[in-house]
Amino acid sequence: MKTTLSIIKADIGSIGGHIKPSAQLIDRVKDHLKTNLKGLANDFFVSHTGDDVAILFAHTRGVGDEKIHKIAWDAFIAGTAVAKEQGLYGAGQDLLKDSFSGNVKGMGPAVAEMEFEERPNEPFLFFAADKTDPGAYNLPLYLAFTDPMYNSGLILSPNMAKGFKFVIMDVSYTEGDRMIELNAPEEIYDIAALLRDNERFVVESIWSRETGEIAASVSTTRLHNIAGKYTGKDDPVMLVRVQGPFPATGETLAPFNIGHYVAGFMRGSHTGPLMPVKMNSSVSYFDGPPVVCALGFCVHNGKLTEPADAFDHPYWEYIRTKVSRKATEIRQQGFAGAAMLPYSELEYGGIVSKMNKLDPRFKVNQEEKEEKVGKKKKK
Ligand code: F6R
Ligand code: MG
Ligand code: MG
Repeated sequence: MKTTLSIIKADIGSIGGHIKPSAQLIDRVKDHLKTNLKGLANDFFVSHTGDDVAILFAHTRGVGDEKIHKIAWDAFIAGTAVAKEQGLYGAGQDLLKDSFSGNVKGMGPAVAEMEFEERPNEPFLFFAADKTDPGAYNLPLYLAFTDPMYNSGLILSPNMAKGFKFVIMDVSYTEGDRMIELNAPEEIYDIAALLRDNERFVVESIWSRETGEIAASVSTTRLHNIAGKYTGKDDPVMLVRVQGPFPATGETLAPFNIGHYVAGFMRGSHTGPLMPVKMNSSVSYFDGPPVVCALGFCVHNGKLTEPADAFDHPYWEYIRTKVSRKATEIRQQGFAGAAMLPYSELEYGGIVSKMNKLDPRFKVNQEEKEEKVGKKKKK
């Protein structure tokens, strides 16, 4: 049977700043779904990562389905009402439009979806990250799908021998979806050349070249492109099918042991290492560090198992300690150089207004200028 998996997530308010949603808020989202689902989806699962609430649906209605998107939107509206009742911070923050129109894409919530013919057993990983943006998945996906140093199956298994097709989106283009398709392994240098720029080029999906099936799907929303101003980092979600023609679960998780530096952290304006965390974790130090959780599921006849919390294992305690050290190291240099994001990526307007104020106070040495202009004219 054909199954669709949809993750729809939003930040609709949290306790104590941008830390985590309240239990009551989460309960209201769940209750709304239970009461109103009426057979629309076969199953759903609600969790949070930092201040973001993610709904995972298993259904048969295909990607971009209006009814699935609408019920998620309405569940977030119901959760926002609780956030307002409780006085939570940033109530309804990611619901950028007043009314629902067909699809939550472009309305604030992030979406990752895929439709496929269910295998007899269909394991997949659900990822959700907070205090970062969709480019945070570029490096782990590149390594898990192209590099035998991380994915030994690329050389050991006949099922992945042809490699994978990467669909990459230029998220700086706002008039539509600007995409390119590139094949690994032949074009890995081109893939790397794009993916090194996490803020502009983002993996949108990955496809098996053995079977033609979808392997991974990432939310590509850039909130500041929708709202035209700061509304929070994009906090991306992702689905990855695993095993068989796809990387094994452990191969997909392996690159997350790097704790690579990503954009986000405090005020969405810094560089911080991505920490793999357990389900329903909060953020803390310097509104971070940026976090990612990974939940393993099987879906069968449209029904989800309970999640297996992939980063809830003693191995990842060691990684979390390493990542904490990396976070502390980069924070030692405060606003300087690589610790703070470049001008174009700053999520608050403070620096821009400071520059506007300071600009007229710059003085050019007139004598030197005239001398230089004079020299040019003579040439
Ligand atoms: C980052 C984030 C937080 C806030 C910070 C200030 O994505 O959400 O780091 O930017 O706590 O929040 P405001 O501007 O809401 O006071
Ligand atoms: Mg937030
Ligand atoms: Mg968030």
